[in-house]
Amino acid sequence: MRSYFQIFRATAALVALAAGLALLPAASAQSTFDITVLAGACANCHGTDGRSPGGIPSIAGRPESVLADQLRAFKSDSPPANTTIMNRLVKGFSDDELTALARHFSQIKPQPLSGKQGL
Ligand code: HEC
Repeated sequence: MRSYFQIFRATAALVALAAGLALLPAASAQSTFDITVLAGACANCHGTDGRSPGGIPSIAGRPESVLADQLRAFKSDSPPANTTIMNRLVKGFSDDELTALARHFSQIKPQPLSGKQGL
C-alpha cells in the first residue's frame, strides 16, 4: 500500500513538473512582439515607415535616443505642452516596446528632402 502511494506521489510530481515546463514557452511568448506590427500602428499618422507626407513630424532616421526620450516623455505624468494624442497613444505600449520602436524608426533611412533628391 505504501509503495503505491509513493509511486502516486512521484507521478504527481512529474505531472506537475511537466505542466510547469509546458507553461514556460507560453509565458515567454507573451512578452515577445513583432516590431513591424507595432510600428504599423504609427503609419497612419507618421507615414509609411515613419516618413510623414504631411504636417505630422517624420520619425524615420531620428537618433534612437531622441525618439526614446520623446516616447518616454509622452508616457510620463507631464508630457510636453501642446501634446494632443501621443500621450494617450503610448500608454498602450510597454517600456520595452517603446524602446524597440525607437530603435526601429532610428534604423530607417529618412526620406530625401524635397529638392535634394539622392541624398
Ligand atoms: C493618431 C495619429 C498618431 C499616431 C497613430 C501616432 N502618432 Fe506620433 N505623433 C502624432 C502627433 C499629432 C504628434 C505631435 C505631438 C502630439 O500632438 O501628440 C506626434 C509626435 C510623435 C513624436 C515626436 C515627434 C517630434 O518631433 O516631436 C514621436 C517620436 C512619435 N510621435 C512617435 C510615434 C510612434 C512610435 C507611433 C506608433 C507607436 C506614433 N507616434 C503613432 C500623431 C500620431
